Amino acid sequence: MSEFEAEAPRVHRGLKDVYFDRSGVSSIDGRAGELRYRGYSIHDLAENATFEEVCALLLYGELPTRSQLSEIDSELKASRAIPAEIHALIASLKHAHPMEVLRTAVSALGALCPEPSDTSTSTLLRQGLRLTAQVPTIITSHYRLRQGLNPVEPSRELAHGANFLYMLHGIQPTADAARIMDVDLVLHAEHGSNASSFTARVVAGTGANLYAALTAAIGALSGPAHGGAAEDVIRMVREIGEPANAAAWVKEKRAQREPIMGFGHRVYRAKDPRARHLSDRAERLSHEFGQPQWYAVLQAVVEAMQPYSRLGVNVNVDFYAGVIYHLLGIPQDFFVPIFAMGRVPGWVIQVREQVENNILIRPLTVYDGPPSRGWVPIDARG
Ligand SMILES: CC(C)(COP(=O)(O)OP(=O)(O)OC[C@H]1O[C@@H](n2cnc3c(N)ncnc32)[C@H](O)[C@@H]1OP(=O)(O)O)[C@@H](O)C(=O)NCCC(=O)NCCS
Repeated sequence: MSEFEAEAPRVHRGLKDVYFDRSGVSSIDGRAGELRYRGYSIHDLAENATFEEVCALLLYGELPTRSQLSEIDSELKASRAIPAEIHALIASLKHAHPMEVLRTAVSALGALCPEPSDTSTSTLLRQGLRLTAQVPTIITSHYRLRQGLNPVEPSRELAHGANFLYMLHGIQPTADAARIMDVDLVLHAEHGSNASSFTARVVAGTGANLYAALTAAIGALSGPAHGGAAEDVIRMVREIGEPANAAAWVKEKRAQREPIMGFGHRVYRAKDPRARHLSDRAERLSHEFGQPQWYAVLQAVVEAMQPYSRLGVNVNVDFYAGVIYHLLGIPQDFFVPIFAMGRVPGWVIQVREQVENNILIRPLTVYDGPPSRGWVPIDARG
């Protein structure tokens, strides 16, 4: 009996509960429902920090001083433009899903980059900051071209979130809308070893460059089990229509063993701590825009899902994000790209961690196919 047969290896499907490395970027306590970036509570960051501050915190390890913040802010503002080749590429793909366009454009930026394969820390951080600045321009240029409108030149004055809304709609957002966008980006900036960040690390682990890692990460984020839930939540609210229909709708879905979108999480057993910061804002926006039914339906779904809370299935960040985006005038298929836009610094810093202490990520699968067998000539098959 071989050693392999003597002790069957334990399979961790989906790598559930497996620690594959150490990381100094973010920590999640799934039971307590806590999330920290570099030790700072997500609640403190959501209430006090700007996206630019969080970007500096994630990329450089500490909250920036005033002069450091001004430096990173200037660099982001100066890096927003995208090359003409990328504009042409977006125009040629304008009818594709925005995540397909974003993935292709980021990949093409790598092909146009003069130093794509330099994975030194300084180059990686410079490329990462540039990508953080360029992703909103890709997304908004696509949106405008698809609408038959000219893309809006990036602002040299507005903050990251406000500039995104400005490039999207061509008018300066209100201070409230700009802050909501900013908070949303802060909440999405980093989240440990989620599928897209893990993907980025796997790609970077082979020695491939940052553009390759982020292209793959965007691909991973495009799936409904990861980034697509906010889009599905809007579909769900439309389908439910009235708060009074929510309980029966949830019951029907659960009878078919279908997941309720915007609920559940691989790591959190308590409520996703990010959800709270969007819940209040979704309610306020719903009323401000004279569309209170959006929030009312969401709350009715939360009530209908109450019995599942004791099983660890609670509301997650995507549950409220979709309604906020909808009320900000953003079409449904642009919801996941916004998630990607917030997550760029998280992906970049995880790639940096991987590169700085690299090991090829190469797990094993247990073979359970047919036993060894002899070759069968083609005429003897069938
Ligand atoms: C994110 C997700 C893929 C995690 O799946 P997972 O890791 O398998 O989740 P868990 O292991 O915690 O599931 C435990 C149980 O809760 C159930 N569950 C999980 N999410 C659920 C949901 N959204 N609605 C209803 N039941 C759910 C599972 O079916 C499972 O039940 P079972 O033991 O009877 O099979 C899943 O929760 C999901 O599909 N959610 C909806 C999509 C979404 O909102 N994604 C965004 C995440 S930020």
